[in-house]
Amino acid sequence: MRIKENMKTKTEKDVEKTKDLKVLLDEKRVFKPSEEFTEQTNVKKWMDKHGIKSYDELLEKAKDLEWFWGTVANEVVEWFEPYNKVLDWNPPWVKWYIGAKYNIVHDALDKHVKTWRKNKVAYIFEGEPGDVRKLTYWDLYVEVNKLANALKSFGVCKGDRVGIYLPMIPELPIAMLACAKIGAIHSVVFSGFSATAFRERLNDCEAKVAITCDGFYRRGKVIPLKSMADDALREAPTVKHMIVYKRMTAGSELVPWNEERDHWWHEITKDQPRTCETEILDANDILYTSGTTGKPKGVIHAHGGYAVGTAHTLRWVFDLKPEDIWWCAADIGWVTGHSYIVYGPLILGVTSIIYEGAPDYPNPERWWSIIERYGVTVFYTSPTSIRLAMRFGEEWVKKHDLSSLRLLGSVGEPINPEAWIWYYTHIGGKRCQIMDTWWQTESGTFCISPLPITPLKPGSATKPLPGFTADVYDEDGNPIQNRGGNLVQPTPWPGMLRGLYKAPERFKEIYWSKYPNIYLAGDVARKDDDNYFWIQGRADGVLNTAGHRIGNSEVESALVSHEKVAEAAVIGEPHEVKGESILAFVVLKKGVEPNDELRSELREHVGKEIGKIARPDKIKFVTDVPKTRSGKIMRRVIRAKVLGLPVGDIATLSNPEAVEEIDKAI
Ligand code: WTA
Repeated sequence: MRIKENMKTKTEKDVEKTKDLKVLLDEKRVFKPSEEFTEQTNVKKWMDKHGIKSYDELLEKAKDLEWFWGTVANEVVEWFEPYNKVLDWNPPWVKWYIGAKYNIVHDALDKHVKTWRKNKVAYIFEGEPGDVRKLTYWDLYVEVNKLANALKSFGVCKGDRVGIYLPMIPELPIAMLACAKIGAIHSVVFSGFSATAFRERLNDCEAKVAITCDGFYRRGKVIPLKSMADDALREAPTVKHMIVYKRMTAGSELVPWNEERDHWWHEITKDQPRTCETEILDANDILYTSGTTGKPKGVIHAHGGYAVGTAHTLRWVFDLKPEDIWWCAADIGWVTGHSYIVYGPLILGVTSIIYEGAPDYPNPERWWSIIERYGVTVFYTSPTSIRLAMRFGEEWVKKHDLSSLRLLGSVGEPINPEAWIWYYTHIGGKRCQIMDTWWQTESGTFCISPLPITPLKPGSATKPLPGFTADVYDEDGNPIQNRGGNLVQPTPWPGMLRGLYKAPERFKEIYWSKYPNIYLAGDVARKDDDNYFWIQGRADGVLNTAGHRIGNSEVESALVSHEKVAEAAVIGEPHEVKGESILAFVVLKKGVEPNDELRSELREHVGKEIGKIARPDKIKFVTDVPKTRSGKIMRRVIRAKVLGLPVGDIATLSNPEAVEEIDKAI
């Protein structure tokens, strides 16, 4: 594997480490959870209650989807009015908990303020400069109600869309919950995305209101988010109001202001009532839309099923209990944060950490210091972050006492066994099982993942959770074993997407057209002899850099939108930290001279079009890129060349000589 090669050891110490790794991998390939630990877990207690003796029996029993999802739903959520049917499955259309009256905010906030949890801390927020705020469930409830009332005063009603462009500050969940409370639909745009990306999404969902902040802190600098939002709103005609939270500790007065459209958050909420009626919705009403790629793809999730799915999977996979301090270190702008920083944890009533800044600011001990200072018990991050931490070295980790941790998690991309072992050894002190959770924006919740009772194999997300199914199909739709194929999910689950916003045909085409009535995940995977799943990455067309999904074609079209570019081909290249890095082959227009200056200009151009994360790591100038006769760029061929693999059949190419061009460029 390329990633392994890249991790070649350099010093004697590293050679020793590699030996340790071999011992761990070869001799203890399967990591069994300790019985003492297992006995105490939420899932084990549930099994005891239902007379279920083993993990396998649990998986078997949960195949009765209506029984399983009906039972767990009533344990994690409170309906205003109960459902009369668990599931209505008419592929690709699905409805869960039919007839139920519901609102997710009832479970996330309203129910808690009537119990002892009223004074429990919901969020511990740490800003990058070191400022700390602790918000109890009551604090959150009041803030949400005030903002919800302010939104109503702007005429936001049930079904209206609100675009949210905020960094990792408590106001982001507050804004989401305020929308959900009044039945409005939120579309959160990652604060690392560009103004163009924000604008496209606002226009795609025809947002009435936008919510942002003046600026925020990242790597010691201020990111001027309000100016970026202004830029986005220049061509977003449906947005009539913009609410601006004052995050900056100095300089807010210098922020450009549009008197008619802009409103300071603190001013419009100041005199609002502390209570706000929670809109009684249908369990299948839309909660939010989101997408991972530069081009908007509004993945729809509904209140009821999504609430059950997030809360239930979180209580089982990460075994959350009232005393836990949970830290999901993802950004709320992505689905991981939506599901497992906002909705899941709040429904369960746990205390979560929100950290604003970079993991290595001011130095690489920041994360470990947060774990120690707040006594984090369950920690969830991405393989990219783990590899970054490995690179900085365990010296930084050792400065802190991480003994509060009891479980760890990984998400966003396949975790290579080296990173798994490092995480297990240095962060988890060889005590903590690692929950490698496979899922997607579309799935809303974990789908393939171990439970704390599952024997683990480093690098495998293990098996579908109880109540989920998955398989690997060949091109003809036959299930296959021990060979790479297309990952599919044959049965529905409560958190699954309900469609794409305003694009039912596209929804059918992307996910349901390859195999009739079967959900196609878009990943390549392999099932081993024990039916453990090994995810190998995205099928052609999407690359995964630092845990972010970016369409190759989006980066290509951003490049081509530059006046000096004629054509571009983009591929993902294995990268030791980010999983994949972005490599672009660019054909310039006639007469344009390739040089380093242009190279950086193009990188910045993509940054502006999509966001910094999509900037190509490398740009190679070529005179042609391989194409089929119909003009489709053959990324497969380019990738094979770059990786030194056989290029396969190139008979269909219209310009086989372009392959030589690629060869020369690499
Ligand atoms: C990849 C993030 C391997 C996969 C929750 C998927 C993973 C895409 C894992 C979804 C994992 C996510 N092992 N690959 N544990 N988790 N992926 O929509 O390719 O941002 O299709 O959702 O990330 O990315 P998304």
